[in-house]
Amino acid sequence: MTILVTGGAGFIGSNFVLDWLAANDEALVNVDKLTYAGNPENLASLQGDPRHLFVQADIGDFARLSALLHDHAIRAVVNFAAESHVDRSIHGPEDFIQTNIVGSFRLLEAVRGYWHELPQDAKLAFRFLHVSTDEVYGSLEKTDPPFTERNQYQPNSPYSASKAASDHLVRAYHHTYGLPVLTTNCSNNYGPYHFPEKLIPLCIQNALAGKPLPIYGDGRQIRDWLYVKDHCSAIRTVLAKGKVGEIYNIGGWNEKANLDVVHTLCRILDELQPRPDGLSYAKQITFVTDRPGHDRRYAIDAGKLQRELGWQPAETFETGIRKTVGWYLEHQDWVQNVLSGDYQSWLEKNYAGRG
Ligand code: NAD
Ligand code: DAU
Repeated sequence: MTILVTGGAGFIGSNFVLDWLAANDEALVNVDKLTYAGNPENLASLQGDPRHLFVQADIGDFARLSALLHDHAIRAVVNFAAESHVDRSIHGPEDFIQTNIVGSFRLLEAVRGYWHELPQDAKLAFRFLHVSTDEVYGSLEKTDPPFTERNQYQPNSPYSASKAASDHLVRAYHHTYGLPVLTTNCSNNYGPYHFPEKLIPLCIQNALAGKPLPIYGDGRQIRDWLYVKDHCSAIRTVLAKGKVGEIYNIGGWNEKANLDVVHTLCRILDELQPRPDGLSYAKQITFVTDRPGHDRRYAIDAGKLQRELGWQPAETFETGIRKTVGWYLEHQDWVQNVLSGDYQSWLEKNYAGRG
């Protein structure tokens, strides 16, 4: 038996691949285009492991994906591949439309063709798990209850709109063609291999480099944080036990304002690697112009997943964030390799003129 994972060289995908192969012996084909966000170094520990086949390809390459599905007799697909950074989607939505919508559509077409020809028992057992985000539900007011699977879709950024479109396609392929799909909508992840363009790794890295910690607007926007390995265990649970056609929200009940998250990072860094001058890293916090269309609050109600499939996160925010800071301190080589020339030009584009 073999599963096919897309986007398995990115942040969550590579954590999933590593955890999958640590937890069981089922082989895995890992399809990743290796955009700026894909990093084969995340998978270095799998070198020579016959259970892991890495293939550099675009999910939009119908012929390539069809061949891989047939050649490896794939029994399940987990689709992580996406353009994932909201700020980049604001500066240039084109890649988001191409990968998240057109790419997902072509992948679904390849899967549909393959699945259609499977013998009946394999057809029944097959799964297509689509990894999506809580951002498709839009923004909550302070007193609104957390998002459930029944919330209306109200995406507000080109990123979330493109993810919403892919969710709708996945739903339609189940409703129209009977493809056995599962969709997960998860809150903000953090942990090892998180690309340092996102708030948590960016602030850890900027703190250590003596640079400003940029807080958009007033910093009171709320995100609901989940340690990446808990997201991976939730996906494994949904893949194994989820009911076909259903949506599962994934989250760890950890709502935090951005400013509080950054203060927590500073506190842990002050303890683990104090600044040479003995002052707190919090001194580096700098308020900058807000993100256009910035969603104020996300919060996930993961009750369905807990009740129906028995999943629980293993980490609290306090334990997970401490592990994460520790990981970045121990993996400065990884960070330095990621900070390529391309990434430096992104930093200039996103932060220049923000004040
Ligand atoms: P990421 O940007 O770190 O990684 C994305 C990966 O997909 C990269 O390895 C990249 O090379 C690959 N990729 C991009 N376009 C591709 C294409 N056309 N064909 C093949 N591969 C391609 O993203 P992430 O943070 O790991 O997110 C993974 C998935 O989880 C995404 O679908 C995202 O929407 C979703 N998600 C992310 C979070 C989060 O907090 N990061 C939360 C909920 C859901
Ligand atoms: O909610 C799930 C989503 O979480 C995923 O679908 C996305 O792929 C993922 O990137 C993440 O989106 P966010 O926009 O919430 O993540 P980001 O790390 O970019 O920002 C987190 C919060 O911090 C957000 O309110 C914006 C703010 N921020 C971000 C950056 C990069 C800052 O204040 N300063 C910054 O420099």
